[in-house]
Amino acid sequence: MMERGRFITLEGVDGAGKSTHLSWLVNHLRAQGRTVVQTREPGGTPLGEKLRELLLHEPMHLETEALLMFAARREHLEQVIRPAIDRGVWVVCDRFTDASFAYQGGGRGLSSEKLSRLEDWVQEGFQPDLTLLFDLPIGIAAQRMAGAARQLDRFEQEKADFHERVRAAYLARAAAMPARVKIIDSRQDVEHIQKQLEELFSSV
Ligand code: TYD
Repeated sequence: MMERGRFITLEGVDGAGKSTHLSWLVNHLRAQGRTVVQTREPGGTPLGEKLRELLLHEPMHLETEALLMFAARREHLEQVIRPAIDRGVWVVCDRFTDASFAYQGGGRGLSSEKLSRLEDWVQEGFQPDLTLLFDLPIGIAAQRMAGAARQLDRFEQEKADFHERVRAAYLARAAAMPARVKIIDSRQDVEHIQKQLEELFSSV
């Protein structure tokens, strides 16, 4: 029987360097001979990308925001993630449900009880095999973001205390699920982080 693929998610506060490491990781896994699909949330399907546009730019009630995140996720799981994993393909996803607990839960204050209900409904027990949490103090993350010359989305525009709560919620999830969520200290330089990732993936 064909070996099942793996589902790897990357998380972290805005500005923590996740995108840089994501492309490196995908290339690294491909160089190891794996077939890899790179995708992202919210998004990853034609419908999901339309929802992303709304989520990132259109003001809305916080529960609407959570419901749309999970609606996009349902479509993504159905159309992309599960079929790929069943074919033996590895899926590397830029953010997933930990981001909902961090941003809608920690950042906006939606109860984790409601988020868990959505998670159970949409995922039916399905979870990432491994989650990399790129962690960085908010002051440094904000400095790095200030260097990016582009329009900020609704989340990036939030104040420092919002991002502090997001970071705390991420760290709390990592502490609660240490086998799945690995914290990567993003204060380290890129080469150190790549070495750490190489080691992590030599045993997955
Ligand atoms: P991000 O992944 O940072 O993309 P980019 O690198 O292009 O800015 O942007 C996605 C934003 O969506 C990010 O600020 C976090 C937010 N988000 C949530 O609030 N909840 C979620 O469940 C997900 C997946 C993302």
